[in-house]
Amino acid sequence: MPKVYLRTFGCQMNKLDSELVLGELLRAGYQPVDNEFEADVILFNTCSVREHAEERVYSHLGALKKIKKNRPEVIIGLLGCLAQKDKNKALKRVPHLDLVCGPHRYKILPELIRKIAEEHRPVIETSQSGLENDGAYFRNLEARQNSFQNYVRVMQGCNNYCSYCIVPSVRGTVRSRPLPDIAAETKMLVDNGCLEITLLGQNITAYRSEKNTLADVLKELSKINGLARLRFITSHPAYVTQELLETIRDNDKICPYLHMPAQSGSNRILKAMKRGYTAEIYLDLIRQAREIVPDLGIASDFIVGFPGETESDFEATVNLIREADFQNCFIFKYSPRPGTKAAELAETVPEAIKKERNNLLLKIQSEISARHNQKLVGKTDDVLVEGGGKNNHPGGRAGSGKQTGRTVHNQIVFFESPNDLTGQLVKVRITSATSLSLQGRLMANGREN
Ligand code: SAH
Ligand code: SF4
Ligand code: F3S
Repeated sequence: MPKVYLRTFGCQMNKLDSELVLGELLRAGYQPVDNEFEADVILFNTCSVREHAEERVYSHLGALKKIKKNRPEVIIGLLGCLAQKDKNKALKRVPHLDLVCGPHRYKILPELIRKIAEEHRPVIETSQSGLENDGAYFRNLEARQNSFQNYVRVMQGCNNYCSYCIVPSVRGTVRSRPLPDIAAETKMLVDNGCLEITLLGQNITAYRSEKNTLADVLKELSKINGLARLRFITSHPAYVTQELLETIRDNDKICPYLHMPAQSGSNRILKAMKRGYTAEIYLDLIRQAREIVPDLGIASDFIVGFPGETESDFEATVNLIREADFQNCFIFKYSPRPGTKAAELAETVPEAIKKERNNLLLKIQSEISARHNQKLVGKTDDVLVEGGGKNNHPGGRAGSGKQTGRTVHNQIVFFESPNDLTGQLVKVRITSATSLSLQGRLMANGREN
């Protein structure tokens, strides 16, 4: 049996793609291994959203040269967004690469690998015609990372062309899957033990198939018996509707959590980013969302150092963050992406200032997040346990000790347990909180253990 090592970089969409790729390879007779030294086929599924992400991958690829030198028959492949973006340039940079395969061609990946093994020639496969990787997969349950928490693609691609973003060019235009396909796949996963489904789409709120919207998808999936939690990411503010918010409010299974990136608080910068809303519109939407779903947790993304971002633009972002009162935020330093509109603009913000702004936003948000988390102390929350930590009970059984899981609002919780509860929904009483996580005590039958 040939052995494959598949390593994933990047977002949740890539994690799902890796599962689908692995599923196909398992069907083709491969055996997964967890390190590159034992593998016959080494695959990196990669991200190109920022330059730093790319450099990391190239440096890891460079390190494989030794393996290729010792075992020339090993097949090394670059998959994902970086493969789609760099095509034959990747091969020039990494001469020991055998395969460059973009996200639309995974269906034929086992064939490509066979071809390379037979013909001993590198293959570059980045055609976007047909956009084949659109969910026409029969999920292979054996490729799941775990049985209780799974991803389901509802759409992919993006038509927004935010001026800084590489995603539309590497992932193509929007393709939404028909609702019956999404429902059938979700049901199959739930019938096989899944408690929590996260629906994925680069711009999921733009989902549309026939007359169905994301709200229709959520309503339909909420009916599936055995499913405990439904999440969805990522939401673009311009497509968040009242119907979607009411759907979240009216269905217990839908986690009251919205990841809705604002990117900036300056209207001038938002315009240059082509985001399609102003800071005022965004804040109004947040107000409306909280009115409809009072316990809604809202998370956001921000980019600092976009070309032309002045001190006062940055202040506007600080103001928006303070006013929006997010549960948590992801902050990124602007990275020019070749081929995007923004990359044609001269960069005006030095790296040191980007870093300073980045740190300042992190600090401000960390205080806000801590305040949100503090409010939960003393309350009892449902937690889906994701894993056991180290066994820190002297003499304790394997798998006992620290456990971690998530609340419906996606906050990380740590608690102690005498046995491993991975994959179970439990009640935890929150005892303390920081900006990043919660600590709690496991409750038995609603009483403290
Ligand atoms: N589909 C997601 C975006 C994925 S990229 C969405 O629309 O929300 C995730 C985040 O990376 C974006 O929200 C943005 O904040 C950041 N990002 C995207 N392009 C970037 C760039 N060129 N430089 C820095 N950050 C970027
Ligand atoms: Fe990129 Fe904008 Fe599309 Fe998000 S909405 S994937 S940031 S182009
Ligand atoms: Fe990165 Fe591609 Fe996801 S660029 S963020 S892996 S869609």
